[in-house]
Amino acid sequence: MLRINNLEEYHRAYERSVQDPEGFWADIASSFRWQRPWDQVVDWNFTEPNIKWFDGAQLNITENCLDRHLANHGEKTAIIWEPNNPDEEVRRLTYRQLHEQVCQFSNVLKKNGARKGDRICIYLPMVPEAVIAMLACARIGAIHSVVFAGFSAQSLSDRIQDSECCMVITSDGAFRGNKELPIKEIVDQALEVCPSVKTVILLERTGSNVRLVAGRDKLWKDEMEKVDANCPAEIMNSEDMLFILYTSGSTGKPKGVVHTCGGYMVYTAYSFQNVFQPKSDDIYWCTADVGWITGHSYIVYGPLLSGATNVLFEGIPTWPDAGRFWQTIDKHRVSIFYTAPTAIRSLEAAGLDFVTPYLLDSLRILGTVGEPINEEAWHWYHQHIGKGKCPIVDTWWQTETGGILISPLAGITPLKPSYATLPLPGVQPLLVDADGKEITGNGVEGNLCIRYPWPSIIRTTYGDHERCRINYFATYAGRYFTGDGCKRDEQGYYRITGRVDDVMNVSGHRIGTAEVEDAINQHPDIVESAVVGYPHTIKGQGIYAYVICTNELADNDLLREEIKAVVSRVIGPIAKPDKIQIVRGLPKTRSGKIMRRILRKVAEGDVDNLGDTSTLLDPTVVEEIKKGA
Ligand code: WT7
Repeated sequence: MLRINNLEEYHRAYERSVQDPEGFWADIASSFRWQRPWDQVVDWNFTEPNIKWFDGAQLNITENCLDRHLANHGEKTAIIWEPNNPDEEVRRLTYRQLHEQVCQFSNVLKKNGARKGDRICIYLPMVPEAVIAMLACARIGAIHSVVFAGFSAQSLSDRIQDSECCMVITSDGAFRGNKELPIKEIVDQALEVCPSVKTVILLERTGSNVRLVAGRDKLWKDEMEKVDANCPAEIMNSEDMLFILYTSGSTGKPKGVVHTCGGYMVYTAYSFQNVFQPKSDDIYWCTADVGWITGHSYIVYGPLLSGATNVLFEGIPTWPDAGRFWQTIDKHRVSIFYTAPTAIRSLEAAGLDFVTPYLLDSLRILGTVGEPINEEAWHWYHQHIGKGKCPIVDTWWQTETGGILISPLAGITPLKPSYATLPLPGVQPLLVDADGKEITGNGVEGNLCIRYPWPSIIRTTYGDHERCRINYFATYAGRYFTGDGCKRDEQGYYRITGRVDDVMNVSGHRIGTAEVEDAINQHPDIVESAVVGYPHTIKGQGIYAYVICTNELADNDLLREEIKAVVSRVIGPIAKPDKIQIVRGLPKTRSGKIMRRILRKVAEGDVDNLGDTSTLLDPTVVEEIKKGA
């Protein structure tokens, strides 16, 4: 593995990755265990798009995550599980134990009919079995589709249907803070409309009473007893699918981002090791959920490929109180800590009384991910958590990129608060204007694109390649378009300013405005709605909904509560609007297009700078909206 140790090496690696990408990535890839070498390092075009890395090579990613470590590091702790309730017992799994559990559960999957290429949905809380289930799928060549266990039954069934999963791995319930969530009930409801699912494997986590459907539902523990722990890894081609992960776009329903085996393995390990610079005795903790890409790449694959010791946290940052993260860092002597700006802002708001009881002296490196971090939060994190001595890696990337693309390398890249700084070797960013013309030079701003593929770039959107082409490769011909706006400062550092499309980022969760509108419109009294994001001090962005309703005399507060309930039911609580304004009309152009720019300005409270409204069909609508804001 090409490990970068200083700034000069970074610049040299970067230079080589541009001059000789194939040689560069071949060298990195050669440190993994392959069953057969590749015929070609990369073969690509961004037109169809068609992207292949290490084509012809054969491997199994779990051999690299697990088997490869057994000879020398089998007794090293792979997972430290910190339960929701800090008084419950911590669980630890060594690499050997994790390997054994994964092999045994792989046999459970096979015994229940799962085969290479089958899609398996995982809907679990943050327990070691979530990691075991993902790796077991990968071991037998089944494609996992993890769905965050906060999504509704409808969101779950949409995802299961889209990729026709044959199996769901889930639990009776989940503990989250002082709540207990009825996971199995949600699954049962979802499966009423999912005929492709033949088997449900149920992990008992909360011990709540659940109904088992005869012939379909089986208990994790019973199934494990029936099989042994000997399971050779399925041999996969480099470009075989590893997983599908659904994410929101600017239009329509969430789409299944597809990642493949070889390139994803190489890039997640390479980026993990260079961004976080882990040492063999580090205790690494990423607070994300495995239901998001951060959990896939930097809880499961990147760290395990690197033989790291990983904290897996079931709970939430604010329970039993807002000191939980800091208490847990001391408890497990965490040295590398990776979390989201929204969590930092909410814990900052809770006050220093929740921080000062803890030493935090084990910390060495801090990271953030998911949304732009404002300078204020950056300094608070740096000073009060890192005690002024820990570098902060502000890592920019996306579900579609599979791994971190722009970030400081910890302890190597000079930092600049709120800047993701420089691209990783192999990543070639460029800024373009609205017409797709490249903006060169420094001290500029534009839309962020990437000009050359890196190994973990999205390959397709499941079942709909055209959608992948249109979303990412058609806006600017020959470029991968990120959907983000970006500044490049005088020294060439990048700062991501946020989405330039109709995707919102609410507490680090990616939510499409269209999805929320569709959910709101399911309320019988709503005629039409328009949703925009607006700046929110804790969440980064809040959700602002403008709604037109049928009945002018309706009880507005009740209606607002009902709308929130509908959105919760259709998507999940994370998508509930923060503000709902009832309006009589929406600002539309003569061709019927909603002018979101105006709605965004009003939601921001910037009503005096609405810009040109002359193309509006009915300008009086805007006056009314301004008054009602
Ligand atoms: C969007 C991708 C990548 C893991 C979590 C989110 C925003 C992500 C940063 C950052 C500014 C960021 C972008 C991006 N984003 N990281 N460090 N600074 N913005 O993955 O759900 O696919 O969302 O999150 O807007 O496009 P995701």
